[in-house]
Amino acid sequence: MQTIFRGKDLITLEDWSLEEIETLLEVSYELKRDFAMDRPTVYLPNKTVFLMFFEQSTRTRNSMEAGITQLGGHAHFLDTSKMQIAHGEVAKDTAIILSRMGHAIACRNCFWKQGNAYLRELAKWATVPVINMQDDLFHPLQAIADLMTIQEKKGRNTRNLKVSVIWAYATTHKKPISVPVSQVLLFPRFGIDVTLAYPEGYDLPDWVIEKARDNARKHGGSLRITHDQEEAYRDADVVFPKNWGSWVTNESTEVVDSLLEANRGWKCTVERMALTSQGSLYMHALPADRQNEVEDAVIDGPHSAIYDEAENRLHTAKAVMALTMGGR
Ligand code: CP
Repeated sequence: MQTIFRGKDLITLEDWSLEEIETLLEVSYELKRDFAMDRPTVYLPNKTVFLMFFEQSTRTRNSMEAGITQLGGHAHFLDTSKMQIAHGEVAKDTAIILSRMGHAIACRNCFWKQGNAYLRELAKWATVPVINMQDDLFHPLQAIADLMTIQEKKGRNTRNLKVSVIWAYATTHKKPISVPVSQVLLFPRFGIDVTLAYPEGYDLPDWVIEKARDNARKHGGSLRITHDQEEAYRDADVVFPKNWGSWVTNESTEVVDSLLEANRGWKCTVERMALTSQGSLYMHALPADRQNEVEDAVIDGPHSAIYDEAENRLHTAKAVMALTMGGR
């Protein structure tokens, strides 16, 4: 078990070894048990984490804020439109100054071709850990909570579990690709057989597919791609039907276009869930576009694990902060 984390950035789980991720899961389980028993977990007394948000959030903001409080520290919520960033202050200056005043910088910046570069620039100059709360490419805090939830429901040994990451129709906003990217990269490292299903035009970057296949080769999982959603539901143990934007093929920020409208039929329905294996899970990072991405009968039905998945955002966020801001 890897035990040395203090000062480590979490930009993507690709930068963390399998042993480090296993420790992160162990600590998450321990913190969840402590939470259930109302046992104090004051691992970060008087420590400050800065939470910089370029976009909206419910789960990420609150898991980080509640999490640091439960660890004995404090969060500053920073709406970047109210920071001097809005007047052009550069990431270098922000990173150095916040490093002088606190103990970690967490940031969400999902702007296409900007977010990850911004996080990397913060990390280059910060002298405290930088935690990615979602960018245009990665959402490590979501992917680790997803994996924890799968393990809780399906067993710690996930080898040869069938997990499908499936595109779904939604109109709320042009969503980042960071959730499916993080899932298809992480799950094969735990021996999972991943099916990625999407209509043509909603491709993930080629380098993601190559890296996911490399991860699968090294760790015994697999990745198959299909453009047939029924194929992705058939015999799946876990399904993640979720919208993402066509950023790779079309950089426009327009939400609704002809490609999207041509794929209204990509929806998680009771009929499609009937194709999955006995006791299968329906999961979603949330927020869900109810009635477009998924029928209420599914998201509120017996397969749904969405609230446990969301709660695990708290326990995994606490583990990331406890290890990188404290630990050894
Ligand atoms: N899943 C997720 O990151 O939720 P929020 O956008 O509400 O933080």
